[in-house]
Amino acid sequence: MTNYRHLVDELSCRHTLCDADMRKLISNADDGDVSYLMEKAREAAVEVYGRDIYIRGLIEISNYCRNNCYYCGIRRGNDRAERYRLTAREIMECIECGYQLGFRTFVLQGGEDAALTDDFLTDVISSAKARYGDCAITLSLGERTYESYRKLYDAGADRYLLRHETADRGHYRKLHPDGMSYDKRIECLLHLKGIGYQTGCGMMIESPYQTVDNIIKDIRLIERLKPHMVGLGPFIPHKDTSFAGYRAGSAALTLRIMSVIRIMMPDVLLPSTTALETIVGDAHKTGIMAGCNVIMPNLSPVHAKKKYMLYNNKAVSGSEDALELSVLKKNIQSIGYNIVTGRGDCKRPDLKGILPDV
Ligand code: 5AD
Repeated sequence: MTNYRHLVDELSCRHTLCDADMRKLISNADDGDVSYLMEKAREAAVEVYGRDIYIRGLIEISNYCRNNCYYCGIRRGNDRAERYRLTAREIMECIECGYQLGFRTFVLQGGEDAALTDDFLTDVISSAKARYGDCAITLSLGERTYESYRKLYDAGADRYLLRHETADRGHYRKLHPDGMSYDKRIECLLHLKGIGYQTGCGMMIESPYQTVDNIIKDIRLIERLKPHMVGLGPFIPHKDTSFAGYRAGSAALTLRIMSVIRIMMPDVLLPSTTALETIVGDAHKTGIMAGCNVIMPNLSPVHAKKKYMLYNNKAVSGSEDALELSVLKKNIQSIGYNIVTGRGDCKRPDLKGILPDV
């Protein structure tokens, strides 16, 4: 057994490693060692979730955003982005279409758009829940006030995704303009968990200026926060942003980190993300082989999908029709897994972090 495999075994037993060992695990490894890491990640996922893969219908409801994050294609300062916002009716149509196909979780994702008021959103959420009571609603709408998160939860929202982006304050500064802060982001995440949302954080892999130490800090944050979901994807440059000239993150490192997170937190919901799909062929299979258990096909109307461009060449495939979904199902079956219909909740909804609720 190589030293690397010993470390993988230690992570499987203890669910944590010291910084130096963590660094060895995520740094370059030979193919055999990486296969071993991924095998252990799959074993951890299968133990909790069996061979079930959960699907979520992603609906990109608005690409207006008041923020100006340097990496993001829908940043406020990008005048070349064609802006759109779905109406409540269009959102309900996407949900209806997804429901007929078998989706039981819908993710409403959008920029921080002032038009997405609490009233607008609570109406949409409560109508969706009234009509489709067996569905879960996930929101991914950025930073909002405690009161707003509370109202949306009371209207029926079940889960919230808010990537922390980086757990290093200095690195956070390099990715975001003044006015945004790491502390604010963490406060939002704590509010979400405190209210009772199944909460997701996450980060881009190999975003500009990211170091291995930064990634270790991300891992430590995830350990302490104990989110129910972790969204990970490679950074991919967008041509109309300040980071246009930077290199994209690699699939190899993204997959290793996905596996490490799975082994650390066997119960976590771990999506194989669109960004991964953009840089790797057959990403869903590849993600599942690394321990992912969630796929988020895009149910947005075609005009919206094209405009919701966070990065160059975003994969715009989706499963808004039955044919595409059946191809996806077969594809997943070919590696011995099954797409299941159901809400697909985290098996440990009571996960308590050690960061205090605020
Ligand atoms: N490359 C990869 N991921 C990106 N995101 C935003 N811009 C990019 C990019 N250029 C991710 C961020 C955000 C999520 C919605 O998309 O992590 O939280």
